[in-house]
Amino acid sequence: MDRVIIFDTTLRDGEQSPGASMNAAEKLRLATQLEKLGADVIEAGFPAASPGDFTAVQAISKKIKKIQVAGLARTSKEDIDSAWGAIKDAAKPRIHTFIATSDIHLKHKLKMTRDEVIQTAVESVKYAKGLTENVEFSAEDASRSDRDFLCKVIEAAIDSGAITVNIPDTVGYALPDEFGDLIAYIRDHTPNIHKAVISVHCHNDLGLATANSLAGVRAGARQVEVTINGIGERAGNTSLEEMVMSLHTRGSILDLSTAINTEEIYPTSRLVSMITGIVVQPNKAVVGANAFAHEAGIHQDGVLKNKMTYEIMEPETIGLASNKLVMGKHSGRHAFRERLKDLGYDLNKEELDQLFKKFKILADKRKELVDEDIEALIAEEILRIPDVYKLLYLNVVSGTVTIPTAMVTLMVEGREMQLSGFGIGPVDATYNTIARITGTRSKLLRFAVTSITGGMDAQGEVTVRLQENGLVTLGRGTDPDIITASAKAYINGLNRLEYLKQNPSLTADERRL
Ligand code: KIV
Ligand code: ZN
Repeated sequence: MDRVIIFDTTLRDGEQSPGASMNAAEKLRLATQLEKLGADVIEAGFPAASPGDFTAVQAISKKIKKIQVAGLARTSKEDIDSAWGAIKDAAKPRIHTFIATSDIHLKHKLKMTRDEVIQTAVESVKYAKGLTENVEFSAEDASRSDRDFLCKVIEAAIDSGAITVNIPDTVGYALPDEFGDLIAYIRDHTPNIHKAVISVHCHNDLGLATANSLAGVRAGARQVEVTINGIGERAGNTSLEEMVMSLHTRGSILDLSTAINTEEIYPTSRLVSMITGIVVQPNKAVVGANAFAHEAGIHQDGVLKNKMTYEIMEPETIGLASNKLVMGKHSGRHAFRERLKDLGYDLNKEELDQLFKKFKILADKRKELVDEDIEALIAEEILRIPDVYKLLYLNVVSGTVTIPTAMVTLMVEGREMQLSGFGIGPVDATYNTIARITGTRSKLLRFAVTSITGGMDAQGEVTVRLQENGLVTLGRGTDPDIITASAKAYINGLNRLEYLKQNPSLTADERRL
């Protein structure tokens, strides 16, 4: 079987999802998980976009040793120097440089002629090649570019030293047959194409990203650029789990394989959702909560008789264990530490003490805790930005015959502040009160509640999206009590907003292309 290289860009294109900013510790944690998942290349970020991006890519490059780490750069010396500065300590660094090739972009965005684009691509690839052997070139908006011009640019980039040439469907415009045909055309009309790996990078504006990427590999592409849960700019990118499981499940027809350890797919999906606060839709292919749920009686009957009747993949294959290891209040510190290690978290003593204390409190409330509960604890306790506001106390009264009232105590920069307030429901009362204590001017754009696991005593997971003066951020909170989870999510969002305000170089706008 031919191997398809999996290039994960969750940390770069994925982070361009509206509001999906991650802090440096979260990025490092995700990079470690992507290494465990078995991605061949991770695009750690766009170092020239902001000092924060640069530092995060640098930290990832120092830590990740088994797989390639790519840094994105426009075709300018400054961008390439910045990318190289951030990735040069990686064991296997890759510079990924790009320029648009469609007439629409040339005329309206770049204001360059076709010859100028070729010359810029050549100079930049040569410059990058002087820094590392491993150079990838992308022709942005390739799917809307003139095919013969596109082939010329690709030929020039390969002649200048690119060993991977990426063909993005930047605006998610292509149809599968058309995109497969484009890859075949490039193979037939680019004389030196055998010297490079063809890569595809598809966006999901028409819901066709995975279909287009599959058409691309069937036509000869051997690298696919993907993100976990399909997150990314606008409607997102090709999702890693869909691509990998398509190749895995239909391997015998496609005759293609990947190096992904499929059992790490579900834990990675959970981690991304937890870190970014972007909830996975229940009917999402492969990793959605309903992906393996059988509702109709006929289906349930069939699955009980033989799983193959309605199941094309086993949940265990993606790491969704049916008999999960359960921990509870009798679990000791040693077992807890071992479980954390299995989940990929090697915490120092101080972090372990802090987490174990919280674990015991939670285990007292819920009899059984599974991996997702423990990961939620880690997200709240360890992977977090410095708190300006901390929830100390919450008491809410609501019901059919009372006006919902909340009493809240927050620690605000070392000072305890308490207020009570009303609302049209318990969450509204809590949020009004928190807003008055913090004096926030932010607007609540989105509020979503899900449950981490199944069962009546499952923990509630609340995600909010907040906006203030052009800054957009997410907040997450988990708790067996959904009103408390809601309060935690709002406070987490407010803390993130404060963090962005205090670190203007990290604003979402600067992170965008
Ligand atoms: O969608 C796109 O064209 C990109 C390039 C930078 C590869 O993300
Ligand atoms: Zn993209």
